[in-house]
Amino acid sequence: MIKRSVKPTAKKTVTQPQPLFIFSNLATTLDGKIGPADRSFFLLGTKADHEQMQVLRREADAIFMGASTLRTFKQFCKVRGVATPKQPMNVILSSKLEGISPSWDFFKDPGLRRTFFVSPKAPAAKVKALQKTSEVVILNPLKGKSTTAQCLEHLQECGIRRLLVEGGGGVMWDFVSENLIDEYHVTLTPRILGGADAPTLVDGKGFNPPDLVNLKLSQCRVVGDELFLIYRKIT
Ligand SMILES: NC(=O)c1ccc[n+]([C@@H]2O[C@H](COP(=O)([O-])OP(=O)(O)OC[C@H]3O[C@@H](n4cnc5c(N)ncnc54)[C@H](OP(=O)(O)O)[C@@H]3O)[C@@H](O)[C@H]2O)c1
Repeated sequence: MIKRSVKPTAKKTVTQPQPLFIFSNLATTLDGKIGPADRSFFLLGTKADHEQMQVLRREADAIFMGASTLRTFKQFCKVRGVATPKQPMNVILSSKLEGISPSWDFFKDPGLRRTFFVSPKAPAAKVKALQKTSEVVILNPLKGKSTTAQCLEHLQECGIRRLLVEGGGGVMWDFVSENLIDEYHVTLTPRILGGADAPTLVDGKGFNPPDLVNLKLSQCRVVGDELFLIYRKIT
């Protein structure tokens, strides 16, 4: 018989990080597109959708987006009527910071909090230029943790508890492929964009059918010709 020695449980002295709630919010066309193929600036939703975006941003400690979305909008994602220090942090994921200019409006207000997660391939000069206005975290591919795991660990250490993912389709895949999103807010707009290269709600590599993510509908609200849908993760 194998005897097992039972060690006394070590007293916990380290404060455990609080759990992170992750929710996403994007508007799609009837055919699932979130923007035109050329990534040009185009707002899909109506005023009701923009109001809903403000409601959700108000609930977020940080807003996460892909570099491509920043390259399209070039603006800081703000909550209307909220003082600068209380604005949600804006978090950007990029490999090499290509096409991102420190002269954009996004970087103008020194009181706003910005964090970039970049790969080690990001040129040092670009990193240095952004460090004047933003925190830049270099991801470590050798750490044995996925990109999102490294981002989330850092954000939790910074006190982020409610993270709003605003897209686009590339970054959504980073989160969806690991089933990290607790709540999906989707505005279905009565429009059709078409085009094989137009970004969709979730792009990336995609799942094999047995591995796909199943969700539960938790709310469906009709406002004019738009549907405001909330789907939840099945736990
Ligand atoms: N309808 C809506 O609600 C909505 C919301 C948001 C965006 N949009 C639209 O969506 C379009 C942009 O979406 P998108 O799918 O093209 O791109 P995206 O998800 O915004 O950004 C993709 C970029 O993020 C970076 N990235 C993603 N995963 C990464 C990883 N694991 N490691 C390092 N970097 C990573 C890369 O940046 P680098 O290229 O710098 O390496 C990649 O090219 C725009 O047209 C925008 O207008 C629509």
